[in-house]
Amino acid sequence: MTTFAMPESIVLRWAQTPGMTELEPYRRAGGYEAARRVAAGELAPEAVIEALVASGLRGKGGAGFPTGQKWKFIPRQAPVTYVVVNGDEGEPCTFKDRTLLEGAPHLLIEGVLIAALTVGARKAYVYLRREFYRARRTLEAALEQARAAGLVGRGVFGSARDVEIVVHSGAGAYIAGEETALLESLEGRRALPRLRPPFPAQAGLYQRPTLLNNVETLCHVPVILTLGPERYKDYGPPALFSVSGHVVRPGVYEAPLGVKLRSLIFDYAGGLRPGRRFKAAFPGGSSSMPLVADHLDVPMDYDSLRVLGSMLGSAAVIVIDDSADMVEIIARTVEFYREESCGKCTPCREGTIWATQVLERILHGRGRPEDLALLEGIARGMTGTCFCPLGESVPPSLVASLRHFRDEYERYIAGATRGH
Ligand SMILES: Cc1cc2nc3c(=O)[nH]c(=O)nc-3n(C[C@H](O)[C@H](O)[C@H](O)COP(=O)(O)O)c2cc1C
Repeated sequence: MTTFAMPESIVLRWAQTPGMTELEPYRRAGGYEAARRVAAGELAPEAVIEALVASGLRGKGGAGFPTGQKWKFIPRQAPVTYVVVNGDEGEPCTFKDRTLLEGAPHLLIEGVLIAALTVGARKAYVYLRREFYRARRTLEAALEQARAAGLVGRGVFGSARDVEIVVHSGAGAYIAGEETALLESLEGRRALPRLRPPFPAQAGLYQRPTLLNNVETLCHVPVILTLGPERYKDYGPPALFSVSGHVVRPGVYEAPLGVKLRSLIFDYAGGLRPGRRFKAAFPGGSSSMPLVADHLDVPMDYDSLRVLGSMLGSAAVIVIDDSADMVEIIARTVEFYREESCGKCTPCREGTIWATQVLERILHGRGRPEDLALLEGIARGMTGTCFCPLGESVPPSLVASLRHFRDEYERYIAGATRGH
């Protein structure tokens, strides 16, 4: 048996090194040097953006949009521009942003400073998931230290540039993680998604150009500027995977983008529990279509997963072994979307209610043979018709479960028919 050696981490290590919540140890380790160079004009905005483009960094919040490209979209001469950090981390079984916030708050602050200095924003908001009490305390303490040292606030790093960073806690809604709903919430309204265009880069917070990035995305920025995009890419480029479910060692792992699903489960996360067989895995949180054993050797990257009809999303790998009931898992997943549907559009609001009702009656032994076609029909009706990706993420999982685990649905229904 070969023993697996986890590759060196370059982003997660900041959260795993003790003391990195404090300013001085962070600076001694080279922290804030990239932000200082940007503030001093040693690294021009164009150079920062070029480095991001060359690094291949793509958004870690779920949509995987190329980060350098997004930064380029922000108009440079706008009188007011904002940076908004998405720390809502609502995707089920995603916990890498919390790990970074609690372990390496200065890395995030440095990423925010670089973003603000690059796009010309004087104010940045960090929107945190309501339940992130410890993360909020840690981040606010780190901000206090950075402010006292002149790195945040008026004249950052002794320059003529001001960057204020404000922390805001959400009100506890999954939809608030969707970028335009987040902006609504930040402005004090109910988190309902906005029609796009205009995109936040054009008219975002208070209708001003807004650069909106995920916590992890911004944590990669100082690393890219410090190492240079080529060395950064040599590490994969790196991605943080939240691995949970039926594995021996659930946790956050940094692995090269494109790592095999099999390696994440069996090397990084210690494999399945003794005597268990792999059944399925959601590769990118519950919004991504689940994969089955045939897909264990798929590279975990944006394009390979998209070709399969799934997605990398927030890179939250939920592993399911043969002890689990797939009908129940899909019923609980669809129920989650029913609970979290904002109600703005009919296909999502009604489709998730209807699908949950059918799944519940199957689970409770009252399923009818025609229910499987009905579920497929509901999924078809929701595909391409929802206002935002929340509702759109339901059909792929539902359809995949009906394809790969039809026998499990049929067993429930056969039991029900026999019982009548
Ligand atoms: C329903 C829904 C929930 C989302 N939740 C989050 C979230 O919790 N955190 C996040 O960063 N992005 C989330 N996103 C993605 C954001 O809309 C957006 O793409 C992302 O924050 C952009 O940052 P990035 O380019 O750095 O990934 C969600 C999207 C949808 C449709």
